[in-house]
Amino acid sequence: MTKKEILTFAESELHTELSAVELLQVLVKKFPKKVCFSTSLGIEDQLITHFIFENEIPIDIFTLQTERLFEETDQLLIETQAKYKQKITVFEPRKNKVEELESQKGKFSFYDSVENRKECCAIRKIEPLNRALENYTIWVTGIRAEHSENRQNMPLFEWDEAHQMLKVHPLLHWRAEEVKNKIKKFQIPYNLLHDKGFVSIGCKPCTRAIKEGEDFRAGRWWWENSSKKECGLHN
Ligand code: ADX
Ligand code: SF4
Repeated sequence: MTKKEILTFAESELHTELSAVELLQVLVKKFPKKVCFSTSLGIEDQLITHFIFENEIPIDIFTLQTERLFEETDQLLIETQAKYKQKITVFEPRKNKVEELESQKGKFSFYDSVENRKECCAIRKIEPLNRALENYTIWVTGIRAEHSENRQNMPLFEWDEAHQMLKVHPLLHWRAEEVKNKIKKFQIPYNLLHDKGFVSIGCKPCTRAIKEGEDFRAGRWWWENSSKKECGLHN
């Protein structure tokens, strides 16, 4: 299908009145075997994973193992696959690229400049992401508008020029409380760091807990001075 056809479908069929499950079902009906979901094992992603596995929606789930994640996140991946008896595909960075970066700039070059940080994200996240998205038409994410200023005006779906595919955010307008309530109600396993002040969880050296009243993503790359802190996954 062409970009125009995909966008025409999205404009007429994808709307905010659909529940998250309905939205996912509409997508797989139209694009069988062409829908994937990326999980960071964050709280929103755990809810989407639950919706997919519990409702047996044929969507492939993958995660990007940056090799700098928290032990709690690694543990949660094992626990989630065991609970649902389903597989989440793991994509890892190219070993030689990581070794090259670390031998040239050390293990913590990302603290030195935004440029260095993006270089590390490109090797550990973006290149594996590009491989993960190959052969799909639809990319589902767990993005919520509340996450940050930058995400507040994101649409429910958008055309991803870099990957030439449609990106869809089924929980875009969900509030944090609603997500938490569902996690509790359905007894979905979640990252224990969420109970210790960690809201948005990425790589261990680049994530810290936040204080009351701080922006949801204030704990990500906290040493950088920008309201638009992204790693390249979502621009
Ligand atoms: S990030 O770009 O800053 O890292 P964030 O942690 O807010 O993203 O997560 C937003 C969405 O990006 C998640 O719901 C998920 O779809 C995707 N995502 C983020 N990190 C990963 C990861 N390590 N593996 C797979 N998907 C991820
Ligand atoms: Fe590297 Fe930090 Fe980006 Fe993880 S979040 S890929 S450790 S710069």
